[in-house]
Amino acid sequence: MNQASLHRLLSQKGKDSKELFDLRLATNLTLIQKQFFSLYPEERHEKNFKKLLQLLPKLYLERPEALRNQDLQRLKSGNWYQSEKLVGMQLYVEHFNKDLKGLQEKIPYFKKLGVNFLHLMPITTRPKGESDGGYAVNSYLEVDKKYGSKKDLLELTSALRKNGIYLMLDFVVNHTSNEFSWAKKAIKGDKKYQNYYYTYEDFTIPAEFEKTLPEVFPETSPGNFTYIPEMEKWVMTVFNSYQWDLNYTNPEVFLEMLANLVKLTDLGVDVVRFDALAFLWKKIGTISQNLPEAHNLISLFRMCLQVVAPGSILLAEAIVAPTNIVKYFGEGEKRGNECEVAYNASLMALLWNSIATKKTQLLYKSLMHVPPKPKDCTWINYIRCHDDIGLGYENHLIQELGWNSEMHRKFLLDYYCQRLDWSPAKGILFMYNPKTGDGRITGSAASLLGLEKAIATKNDDLIKESVNKIIMLHGITLAFEGIPLIYAGDEIGTLNDYSFQNDASKKGDSRWVNRPRQDWETISKLEKEDSPQSAIFRTLQKLIKIRKENTVFADHNNLEIYHTGNDHILSLERTHDDKRLLVICNFDENPQVIDSSWIKKLGYFSNGEPMDLVSAEKIALNSALLEVMPYQMLWLMKS
Ligand code: GLC
Repeated sequence: MNQASLHRLLSQKGKDSKELFDLRLATNLTLIQKQFFSLYPEERHEKNFKKLLQLLPKLYLERPEALRNQDLQRLKSGNWYQSEKLVGMQLYVEHFNKDLKGLQEKIPYFKKLGVNFLHLMPITTRPKGESDGGYAVNSYLEVDKKYGSKKDLLELTSALRKNGIYLMLDFVVNHTSNEFSWAKKAIKGDKKYQNYYYTYEDFTIPAEFEKTLPEVFPETSPGNFTYIPEMEKWVMTVFNSYQWDLNYTNPEVFLEMLANLVKLTDLGVDVVRFDALAFLWKKIGTISQNLPEAHNLISLFRMCLQVVAPGSILLAEAIVAPTNIVKYFGEGEKRGNECEVAYNASLMALLWNSIATKKTQLLYKSLMHVPPKPKDCTWINYIRCHDDIGLGYENHLIQELGWNSEMHRKFLLDYYCQRLDWSPAKGILFMYNPKTGDGRITGSAASLLGLEKAIATKNDDLIKESVNKIIMLHGITLAFEGIPLIYAGDEIGTLNDYSFQNDASKKGDSRWVNRPRQDWETISKLEKEDSPQSAIFRTLQKLIKIRKENTVFADHNNLEIYHTGNDHILSLERTHDDKRLLVICNFDENPQVIDSSWIKKLGYFSNGEPMDLVSAEKIALNSALLEVMPYQMLWLMKS
């Protein structure tokens, strides 16, 4: 049983809110103490631990009462984030509808599509010019003027709550910008704040780090350290040179960041996206990702937040190898005590692999290879987001298929990044590193799935094929265990946006090609026109409705993967009590058949022909084989 389940039990006792806070603190104290002293040895840090114990009740008392009441309701009502009713959308406020007020006006649009969970990209202050889309933070709580004011944000969060829409915001926990108040003081020579970052007089220690540290942005920001002449020191900058890595070996940093985290949830944030959390701890001689200390630190944040604001949960943004991602749910005594939610980056990358290869073996192998997640944790399933697509597959699994892993990766980059004439994809090669041969892919879902090329060549068959692919991939994320997250614009098949090439602050970063403006004109015509865009929108709207009406889609660790004997097919089943739903998808451009005897054995034909919820037609079997059309997705419901 994880700590959250213990808190749930305790919250049933009818005690008052402060008593429950004390109980939560008592319940988590051993773990908090253990994680704290594992990072900050006891002999030297008793004083800091006392500071933490004073900070927690202070933060609790400052939490708005409405949110404290919501915390208690949520504790009592179970894991809201595992519900089939949840469907998310990620968006840039300025690209969606100008600012926070504009966003609020669009609440009816979310309702129309069925979206009730929003991830807003960073809205806090940031440097002018390059800011990594706001991931270089000048503050954690101040709303950047271009989005509106804090009042606008509070009005929005309260309107979202009234409309049953959950909110996720980023907590850029690994780094600040070089204009953050701490960085500014450090630059001026303040030793205290120089210690908030990894700063070095000369390159001796950085050189040791560089021996094993990989590069995140090798094209635009090679190396992991930046020299700051005013400070006469090097500072660690793993991402861009203007993003300074926070030094969590200093407990003061942890204490300040904990207060920032809680205050962020006090604005009415339900899910906190822990940005780049795999990087939180650095150690010479390692790649400084996924280190055990990073896990202890995340669990420490979690255990403290849970005491103060138990209704808010954490999302792990760990875009790392599949077996490492699940570790962010916590292992051993930390199991279920780190992040409640994690991006299913593995599923995302594997779906793109299956589209390019038209085969599903690597998808199967990888899904079977990942250890099961704790029962109180869930995924965010998505096909595209604001970032690039990394080829995060396990090499040994590629090799088990008889493929050369290096050549396979090269094939994927060629397929998606316009280096093969026959490929329908129109992506861009991102951060190619000639030293390692690694590269990533940018581009919108629709352009990567062939819609841009099909429209440009006026090829109706290809348009249809591309729409089917788009629907199938979204359909898988809607049917998988976890929260489906649609990237704004994808619900209408938005193509690449090349305008970033004319903006000096963006042109070095092709991720902007997949950060388009919301096309309200197309949206206004969805009902009137029969276009690829309206086909995508209407089908997604329908699938979302089906998902919300069927409890099989709630995440109870109730997903089973089936091998069908056909390498082009993916099949998985969701079950709940006596309800069963079988998903079958064809990743090939030709019709495929599968032996239907195992489907019969599962009982799908016991009470007559099952209904395919996607087409709303019954599925008849005229032979021992079931035929699945190119890029068709079936959702068979057992009658
Ligand atoms: C995360 C964000 C990405 C950003 C990076 C550094 O990976 O998704 O957009 O560049 O963190 O903050």
